[in-house]
Amino acid sequence: MPRSHEVAVAGDAPYTIHIGPGLLDDGALLARRVRGGDAMLVSDAHVAPLYADRVATALRAARPELRLHRHVLPPGEAAKTLAHFTDVTTALADARMRRDATLFALGGGVIGDLAGFAAACWMRGIDCVQLPTTLLAMVDSSVGGKTAVDLPQGKNLVGAFHPPRAVIADTAALRTLPARELRAGLAEVVKYGALGDAGFIDWLDANAAALLAMDDAALAEAIARSCAHKAAIVARDPFEHGERALLNFGHTFGHAIETEQGYGGLNHGEAVAVGMVLAAQLSEVLGLAPAADTARLRALLQRLELPVALPPGLDPDRLLAHMRLDKKAQADGLRFIVWDGIGRARVLAGVSETAVLDVLRR
Ligand code: NAD
Ligand code: GLY
Repeated sequence: MPRSHEVAVAGDAPYTIHIGPGLLDDGALLARRVRGGDAMLVSDAHVAPLYADRVATALRAARPELRLHRHVLPPGEAAKTLAHFTDVTTALADARMRRDATLFALGGGVIGDLAGFAAACWMRGIDCVQLPTTLLAMVDSSVGGKTAVDLPQGKNLVGAFHPPRAVIADTAALRTLPARELRAGLAEVVKYGALGDAGFIDWLDANAAALLAMDDAALAEAIARSCAHKAAIVARDPFEHGERALLNFGHTFGHAIETEQGYGGLNHGEAVAVGMVLAAQLSEVLGLAPAADTARLRALLQRLELPVALPPGLDPDRLLAHMRLDKKAQADGLRFIVWDGIGRARVLAGVSETAVLDVLRR
């Protein structure tokens, strides 16, 4: 595995995912997509003190004339709101950002989604460069152009498709990531195997300990394989008219959990881990897949120290009510990503609420 490598995302607005240690210090790379004279660095209060000065120094070295502004948000899912979206757009206005300005989203998926949405909306769209600093953001949220904020009624309900101009993932930034957040990212890594690559599940089984120990080679391979999966899917289906929905394996359950907990309980990756087990159980209840595959997925997630069951006290009827507002739900009722077994996910429309409640009540 080279020290640093690239994954191309094809499509109408192609871009490159750069992956490697030390990339946040690479001013030439950071500045490559900056068209105008203005840029805004948006980050959160955990990440900005760690990395914002380094990014600013590198950018200024490469582009001394660049007017670089900063906006720092509170950390965590609870900040992914319309109110903080307004804060960012107000900061863009105060800084008099023009259409050729570039927004750098430095942080995890919360910053990437919120700042990306601000970039999508400001003057109907300015360039956004994603600088993911969590494993979850490196393997998933920074890639593919989905941007959004949450509402109290549901996750990611207000958003837009706005592909980044580049994704620059400095794997050395994972050194400061809390262990819980590393594990959350591993849930999304497992997702790629679960939905379409049984061989990747074998590899994850064999490398679980190395990944938890933050072994550089294992992490680099997990990130590269995940990005390759996501890049291929979003290139074929950028606006989720079909295959891209598979990337939501476990998410209908997971989003309902996050919403019901008021975005302050399980984090996104943990909720997805539970949601994938529930999706596998739903597939079992519907007679689509063997229980042995659910057991294997559960065991892998447990080895990765992720939760695999609903947190106590959540009301199944309230979770079901959240699912009715899920973006995949349509006139034909609930749609779920189910599987026929490990590596064979598919969309299933018209899923009976009784079957869903059966799984939630187990
Ligand atoms: P996050 O952005 O909240 O980051 C997790 C925590 O880690 C935060 O407290 C953050 O401040 C901290 N942190 C980030 N990088 C750090 C670092 N290098 N060192 C120390 N601390 C660091 O959460 P997340 O798990 O990265 O992202 C979850 C969000 O991503 C959810 O809102 C989810 O909906 C979204 N998401 C979006 C997509 C998409 O396609 N757009 C895909 C998956 C998930
Ligand atoms: N994380 C789901 C998607 O990007 O489509």
